[in-house]
Amino acid sequence: MSETSAPNFDVIVIGSGPGGYVCAIRAAQLGLKVACVEKRETLGGTCLNIGCIPSKALLQSSENFHQAAHSLKDHGILIAEVGLDLKRMQARKGEVVAANTKGVEFLFKKNKVTWLKGAAKFNSATEIDVAGSAYTAKSFIIATGSDSVPLKGVEVDEKRIVTSTGALELEAVPKHLVVIGAGVIGLELGSVWRRLGAEVTVIEFLDRITPTLDTEVATAFQKVLAKQGFKFKLGAKVTAAKLGDAGVTLTVEPAKGGAAETIEADVVLLAIGRYAYTAGLGLDAAGVETDERGRVKTDAHFATNIPNIYAIGDVITGPMLAHKAEDEGVAIAERLADQAGHVNYGAIPSVVYTWPEVASVGATEEELKAAGTEYSVGRFPFLANGRARAMGDTDGFVKILADKTTDRLLGAHIIGPDAGTLIAELTTAIEFGASAEDVGRICHAHPTLSEVVKEAALAVEGRALHI
Ligand code: FAD
Ligand code: NAI
Repeated sequence: MSETSAPNFDVIVIGSGPGGYVCAIRAAQLGLKVACVEKRETLGGTCLNIGCIPSKALLQSSENFHQAAHSLKDHGILIAEVGLDLKRMQARKGEVVAANTKGVEFLFKKNKVTWLKGAAKFNSATEIDVAGSAYTAKSFIIATGSDSVPLKGVEVDEKRIVTSTGALELEAVPKHLVVIGAGVIGLELGSVWRRLGAEVTVIEFLDRITPTLDTEVATAFQKVLAKQGFKFKLGAKVTAAKLGDAGVTLTVEPAKGGAAETIEADVVLLAIGRYAYTAGLGLDAAGVETDERGRVKTDAHFATNIPNIYAIGDVITGPMLAHKAEDEGVAIAERLADQAGHVNYGAIPSVVYTWPEVASVGATEEELKAAGTEYSVGRFPFLANGRARAMGDTDGFVKILADKTTDRLLGAHIIGPDAGTLIAELTTAIEFGASAEDVGRICHAHPTLSEVVKEAALAVEGRALHI
């Protein structure tokens, strides 16, 4: 292409995960000429293909199985024999994934977003190569996502030593699943296989699970999981994994040093975090800078150090969450169309889709202490809620943190049934700068789980009614 000819597109988005595809759709809605490059056979990125969607399909199926096998008899429902058709369960997961990825393809057609099939590589700061063709654009958005962090001595084959990708594809329920890393992936996918009958042992480097969660909630979470049969080995590290005829032998050492032991597993799930993925992208040719952890460096408006190249989602700083990537995609698309796109990082909810679910938004108690912020706490247990009792789901509580002087909501943490849905109200309240009293004075329908949120808000001032 000559120096003087017009660019092929207004915007080229690289990567079609929730950051990239949402960005492409929003930019097209705003009248821009948009292409999205994706090297996978299907659109939707990690989230739709090997992340959020398949994991939630298996979490739902395994929860249904577990209820049929264990919980329904409490409700007076007797099922003579509950059987597992794992092949069908996996096939259903595939159908759910296909419906979602095809949905994005439909949305691209509807919004006239061009899908450039293949891997994008920057030839320079103004041109990329995709499958041997060069393309130019007024702006490029890097949305190439993330991949699983490897561990020295633990070689992944995606059959017996798996990342989340292999753990979503197992063809048989392992007798003993060992999970390395007590984070979100380990506990969600550990729950899937535990419910289907596996023994699950979780090995975690730190002396607690889910390090980003409020400690009180994480402690309660560990107790609930232990009640479900999870075994935890905290303060421990895996130093080697040896494949044998029948399974895997893991060498495990105390994190702070000491004698090693061995643990036998049928399947090992490696889930110790994800890293920003930019392999083969040619960032050097474009001159785009990365930080010490390989993330693309951006300013508060997603701009890299190179004019007209932006980055969003897992490949930049911040929580690796689909909805964070989506909101950044919308914000940058709007900014490119001369609007005022913006993301409020203080109001991004996060949810662990175990049962009970765990959800949070805003600051943890530890973060407030570290910042020297004076706060009040309101707590209310699901055990004291009529609907939770009717459901037979009384584990957990809602915890609300409010500024001691102004009563403004600073953080909210829920462990309990449907916590992921309940957190939306508190996210809205934080977004609108509400106080705990505001939430406590809102009329909540009876009998619903949301009354626990209202009671926890009232409890900030010691005014809860049903305890
Ligand atoms: P991605 O979704 O990773 O998409 C990036 C895309 O870019 C990929 O399709 C990749 O093929 C493509 N790509 C990369 N390089 C190139 C290139 N050079 N050329 C062309 N294409 C390229 N988050 C939640 O919020 N909720 C959940 O329940 C949840 N569950 C998860 C479960 C699992 C098992 C995993 C692994 C993750 C989960 N996540 C969840 C995290 C979520 O998937 C990510 O935060 C999200 O997908 C990030 O979106 P993204 O658009 O930044 O990147
Ligand atoms: P994570 O960061 O949530 O947890 C990793 C855990 O592994 C931490 O507890 C860490 O202390 C531990 N660890 C690190 N190195 C270790 C070692 N050598 N040995 C033992 N333990 C070690 O990472 P995870 O679970 O892999 O998930 C990656 C990302 O994917 C998360 O950051 C999350 O944002 C996203 N995700 C989100 C989901 C959701 O929103 N429901 C579901 C699944 C993933």
